[in-house]
Amino acid sequence: MLEAPVDIADTKLPRHIAIIMDGNGRWAKQRHLPRAAGHREGAEAVRRTVTACREMGIQYLTIYAFSSENWKRPADEVDDLMGLLRIYLRREIKELDEKNVRLRIIGDRRGLAEDICQLIDEGENATKDNTAMVLSVALNYGSQAEIVEAVRRIAKAVKCGDMDPDDIDEKMISNHMYTKDIPDPDLLIRTSGEQRLSNFLLWQSAYAELIFIDEYWPDFDKKALATAIDTYASRERRFGAREN
Ligand code: FPP
Repeated sequence: MLEAPVDIADTKLPRHIAIIMDGNGRWAKQRHLPRAAGHREGAEAVRRTVTACREMGIQYLTIYAFSSENWKRPADEVDDLMGLLRIYLRREIKELDEKNVRLRIIGDRRGLAEDICQLIDEGENATKDNTAMVLSVALNYGSQAEIVEAVRRIAKAVKCGDMDPDDIDEKMISNHMYTKDIPDPDLLIRTSGEQRLSNFLLWQSAYAELIFIDEYWPDFDKKALATAIDTYASRERRFGAREN
């Protein structure tokens, strides 16, 4: 059973929130700290946000943890991010499970280290029957590559006669995405004042409300989340019926 929303009792809740967590580096720079410190605080903000979403009754949360472009960062920063991810996966699985949260990873696993893939398998497996919320972590994820891969698989199926081109529609394309089992995001939040999608869930965000907030990701908390949800709800009230 989902818990009653806190703080935003009468607000229409988005079913699925997607977040581009941006600004760890600038948060650290502002404090004369190394970038790694910003990422560490960013990981804390992830914990806070997962808890807050679950308490509010959000059913799906998808976070952009590492894009396919992030490999171009300096090797030590990539190592820091992968290290944090290992720590997060080792530490949080038990807690996610206790909180009845299901973990899923979306993205291209081929580029990831073997031990990380193993941690992912363990985490997904341990939490697969959980029902309070689905936390999808985008790792080595790029939306255009996801679409290319979907097109390639569909083209192969057509070529070998398993699929009729006339059967290709939006639903069938959605079914070839990493996100095939989860509804499209209703609300997409990006922190740090940048106003771009940066190759995140391009297909899936066709109807999402986009909210750009100025705070850097490490400062993101329950209050910021509640404010974003309120803004989402007021847009819903203003625009009435949705297109989808
Ligand atoms: C952007 O900050 C953030 C990322 C590179 C991805 C988010 C990573 C984390 C929150 C850390 C660990 C994640 C998990 C799931 C444990 P930036 O470095 O691009 O900031 P900048 O634009 O200010 O330089």
